[in-house]
Amino acid sequence: MSFPIVVLISGSGSNLQALINQSLQGQLNVTISAVISNKADAYGLERAREAGIPTHTLSHKAFDSREEFDAALQIIIDQYSPKLVVLAGFMRILSEGFATHYLGRMLNIHPSLLPKFKGLDTHQRAIDAREKEHGVSVHFVSPELDAGAVIIQAATLIENNDTADSLGNKIHALEHIIYPLAVRWFSEGRVTFHDGKALLDHKELPASGILYNNTLQ
Ligand code: GRF
Repeated sequence: MSFPIVVLISGSGSNLQALINQSLQGQLNVTISAVISNKADAYGLERAREAGIPTHTLSHKAFDSREEFDAALQIIIDQYSPKLVVLAGFMRILSEGFATHYLGRMLNIHPSLLPKFKGLDTHQRAIDAREKEHGVSVHFVSPELDAGAVIIQAATLIENNDTADSLGNKIHALEHIIYPLAVRWFSEGRVTFHDGKALLDHKELPASGILYNNTLQ
């Protein structure tokens, strides 16, 4: 089996689909061992089934505390012994213990140019703040929300007529390029994590990671 990863989702799973597509096309040499959702109706579960990937649903509502849910989730994930856990629209705040367990081997994608606009509604907030540009970040997950070391960002200009939806569509298209790229770099050992910092090809990345351009491979 090539590099085993587990993907966590809560919704549509278009980033999951990008990972599936690239691995089917041989551009990404990983095995998606399982897809886990905290929501039974997440469309991403159908995408996974369609691709023949084992799926699990674990509802957070069945647990009294965040810690108990995360402990149960960790047991399911670790059955697959993944080398990387990929959060792809997994809409949960993580407990410190869970984040620490996967420190240096769990990635997230966040739709903003971090450290700007942590949290939700990032597209509307970027428009309201009259930002000139907006974007997306792939980062290592640390116990603090949306604060782990950034690997790569992609940016786009905000046009005068952009709405949260139109901007969101542009950002999604960028996500589907940079998330598989970051996962591939990790699986090839090119991206590593040391002392809270992200490294690419043994060089420490700046706080904002590397900025995507189409010559990056
Ligand atoms: C993306 O916008 C991602 O940045 C955020 O959640 C969304 C997931 O979209 N973390 P999808 O489910 O992959 O389509």
